[in-house]
Amino acid sequence: MSIDFGTDIYEEPIVAKTFLSEDAQEGSLRPKTLSEYIGQEKAKGNLAVFIAAAKKRGESLDHVLLHGPPGLGKTTLAGIIAQEMGVNIRITSGPAIEKAGDLAALLTNLSEGDILFVDEIHRLNRSVEEILYPAMEDYAIDIIVGKGPSANSIRLDLPHFTLIGATTRAGQLSAPLRDRFGVTLRLELYTPQELSKIVTRSASILNVDIDPTGALEIARRSRGTPRIANRMLRRVRDFADVRADGVITKKVADEALRALEIDDLGLDPIDHRMMHAIIENYGGGPVGIETLAATIGEEAVTLLDVYEPYLMQLGFLQRTPRGRCVTRKAYEHLGLSVPKSMDEVPEQLSL
Ligand code: ADE
Repeated sequence: MSIDFGTDIYEEPIVAKTFLSEDAQEGSLRPKTLSEYIGQEKAKGNLAVFIAAAKKRGESLDHVLLHGPPGLGKTTLAGIIAQEMGVNIRITSGPAIEKAGDLAALLTNLSEGDILFVDEIHRLNRSVEEILYPAMEDYAIDIIVGKGPSANSIRLDLPHFTLIGATTRAGQLSAPLRDRFGVTLRLELYTPQELSKIVTRSASILNVDIDPTGALEIARRSRGTPRIANRMLRRVRDFADVRADGVITKKVADEALRALEIDDLGLDPIDHRMMHAIIENYGGGPVGIETLAATIGEEAVTLLDVYEPYLMQLGFLQRTPRGRCVTRKAYEHLGLSVPKSMDEVPEQLSL
């Protein structure tokens, strides 16, 4: 029997940065406490101190900004913070809050110490953002009552809440908003060893049979991202159930991921198109991100948020002031001959 693991069955790529329907199960895989959370040691260590200090003083936690590529666990971490602080969490996102009044309603319904989690906080519109300034700084909002010359501003006190903002790009946040966060934590891509632990933990929750070589193979190919690792685990499990005896080994993982067009390092067809386009259309670079996106028919934000971080971590792509360039390593991975011009200059100076 042949199984089609192509786009007919799985319409979204495994690296999709948005939530897929299958991610609905992600909730059960999410760690609930800091001690269950694997990786991000720096962020975790700092958070543990801030949480302990706030609890000791009986105060709400300072506002926290979490930034880093999609799928690294920003929402998970916000849930853990709420759990560790023993408070409620309300979850929303920048684009979901359309009007100032929507945010005012959310804020006035919070209780003392509660957490308001705003995902994609860089996408808040200006008028909504301005409500946040006094809310974060003074725990108050100013409401305009009436219109024209008789309009009046009244100040409404809010409970001491904690805003947790999440963004893929901290650079896009306006300075006044950024400055109002007391704690800024950058989440980094995970190592294969950390991801292997996450895959093993998820497999045990999902009752999937996996051996350590299978877990490491999925980990190595999930571009430093737990959400991708968990998606791969589910798809490789399908493969193991139908094509093998249900056990995920390195061989089964390798066959399944190859069928899904994920290469040995976890790169998918879009990564390949990106690198080929830079090499074939722009002589290896530099090329601007918008031009590159138009060339391969993808959105620039997707390339920025999802594709670039991992290609840069692998050392296949460099960001220069004039645009993106591929490196010698990229040519080698693609099996292309390295241009002579690259021999003349050491890699780090080849801008
Ligand atoms: N599942 C997703 N992310 C995780 C993490 N960082 N630790 C444990 N399990 C996870």
